[in-house]
Amino acid sequence: MYTQLEQRGMDTPPVNISTLRKMKAEKTPIACLTAYDASFAVLVDKADTDLVLVGDSLGMVVQGHDTTVPVTVDDIIYHTKMVRRGLRRAFLVADMPFMSYTTPEQALENAVRLMQEGGAMMIKLEGGSSQIEIVRHLTRHDIPVCAHIGLKPQSVHKIGGFKVQGRDSGQALQMIDDAISLQDAGADIVLLECVPNEVGKAVTRKVEVPVIGIGAGPDVDGQILVLYDALGITQGRLPKFVQNFMESDSGSLAEGCVRYVEAVKNRSYPAPEHCFS
Ligand code: KIV
Repeated sequence: MYTQLEQRGMDTPPVNISTLRKMKAEKTPIACLTAYDASFAVLVDKADTDLVLVGDSLGMVVQGHDTTVPVTVDDIIYHTKMVRRGLRRAFLVADMPFMSYTTPEQALENAVRLMQEGGAMMIKLEGGSSQIEIVRHLTRHDIPVCAHIGLKPQSVHKIGGFKVQGRDSGQALQMIDDAISLQDAGADIVLLECVPNEVGKAVTRKVEVPVIGIGAGPDVDGQILVLYDALGITQGRLPKFVQNFMESDSGSLAEGCVRYVEAVKNRSYPAPEHCFS
């Protein structure tokens, strides 16, 4: 475990929300990955990943469920604690699981647990304008918030599958409005999943906070992938936006993480074949 004192002596200081805002302003791509344990957190951090998310995707890639719905607050805390111990530089975000933020009070109580018990620096929740009151309540209590819009995996049973969102113009405009309203309510980051390139570009232009995309095209401020997808660990059919960074040679997992970060930084990922129109 690295202490605050050790971190102060580092050549590259730990990433914080100001670092991420500056990266947006300077058009430096933000490289993000998920992680679920300390060993992978070390690899991801050493690769210079800027932001690490303990995503509720752990329900699928670690626990073996078909969706993220069964994941609990205790599960996220357990994994966030482990990831925290492996990180030195990256900014740590933890997911609020399904039904853990149905009221402002419940959201605050669970967000505080993710930060105090897990060690998260920011929490992520799914939802558009319906979550404004929750985001406002959290940010009024100085809880940093990442708002996840576009495809919301926790709503998979309501949507009817993992599908591209925002293809019709009404839905796209609603998404842009949602991003602005969430920012105005205090969200510090917008995460945009599985939308056409044009929607990714429009949202990124309209808001001042960093926009991190997953299947949202090349014109967002940063990219994120589920770590096990990026390292070719996940079996079966993968979303179109996934690139396996282990594919090109027989290198190590550490090299796979480095290749991902380089590809985001030099904008070779995402390529046209990873994008939606
Ligand atoms: O849970 C998760 O890993 C996520 C990413 C897909 C962004 O939300």
